[in-house]
Amino acid sequence: MNDNETTDHEKSTSLVPASGDGHDRLPASLIAGDDQFENPGLPAHVHRAADDDPAAAKRAERQVATLFGLSMLATLVFLVSYFAIPDEATFFFPGIGMAKTQNVVLGLSLGFAIFLIGIGAVHWAKTLMSDEEIIEERHEQASTPEQRAKAVAVVAEGVDSTQLPRRPLLKYSLGGALGLFALPLGLQVVGSLGPVNIDELGHTIWDPKDNDGKPIRLMRDPEMTPIRFDEVTNGSVFHVMPETLQKYIDEGKHVLEARAKAAVILIRLDPDLIKVQKAKDWGVDGALAYSKICTHVGCAVGLYEQQTHHLLCPCHQSTFDLTEDCAVIFGPARRPLPQLKITVDDAGYLVATQGFQEPVGPSYWERAR
Ligand code: FES
Repeated sequence: MNDNETTDHEKSTSLVPASGDGHDRLPASLIAGDDQFENPGLPAHVHRAADDDPAAAKRAERQVATLFGLSMLATLVFLVSYFAIPDEATFFFPGIGMAKTQNVVLGLSLGFAIFLIGIGAVHWAKTLMSDEEIIEERHEQASTPEQRAKAVAVVAEGVDSTQLPRRPLLKYSLGGALGLFALPLGLQVVGSLGPVNIDELGHTIWDPKDNDGKPIRLMRDPEMTPIRFDEVTNGSVFHVMPETLQKYIDEGKHVLEARAKAAVILIRLDPDLIKVQKAKDWGVDGALAYSKICTHVGCAVGLYEQQTHHLLCPCHQSTFDLTEDCAVIFGPARRPLPQLKITVDDAGYLVATQGFQEPVGPSYWERAR
């Protein structure tokens, strides 16, 4: 097809200015007939200051350029801060607390840089770019039979030029090489499906083996101070970590990994409300400790509804009933939160005498059993 030829497709996709209500500018199919509604058309085009006044257009151009210039400045701030601000520098950020200076400056400068480009582009579009509305008519999506035949011919010609049909040795050796090459990829997928090391997934630093076999005290998170049983009043909620975490904090190694699986929520309610005997036995006079890691995909279940005794995961609204041994009563989680068995030591502090008896966290760990 040469440049002068016009296909049906092109004829039907010509853009028609639709400003005003002139029917002469609309496709005939849209103009009112006996059995059609009248086409209301588009509102008349309202000219903007920059459309008619060169001074206003120049002013808008300068405004857009200023926004882009400010964006450049913000990017330079980012680049300089990356090297100039020491990694350990911190400052007090109102409403958040202590924050790393470099993180805040990098985040803000990059945010402003992209924001300024965005509002510059929007201002440019609103003041200078054409705002005349146009209609693009619908058209057949399919190519014409001639175009399709031509495409098939081009592909056939390409295959022929490789000489593959005439050279079976090349064809089969290439097929073999590509076929084998797919195997390592498949192998990695299959290999990573298992077996799952349940013991490793099930182990948390609540295991007394991590504390020379001694019971592990429940500590307030993040203060890391021990919790006396008489401080846990009815209705109170504590966010808890094991005292074994302190060793990881002191050494500064694997702290996040240790914390991630060990988070526990401690709540006390009227023991008569607890319907499951095991849950009652593993607590202390209504004080119950459960893993805080949602069994759906691992968010922190940190919201406690005191009236209903429900624990709520804010990520996808899984809801666990504390009176039913944290059974799931709503949401996508598929199994209860694991309970941590607790008691009171001679000094009156709450301690865990054994680790979790099942893996904490998402259910796919459980499915591997
Ligand atoms: S992670 Fe808790 S509901 Fe999805």
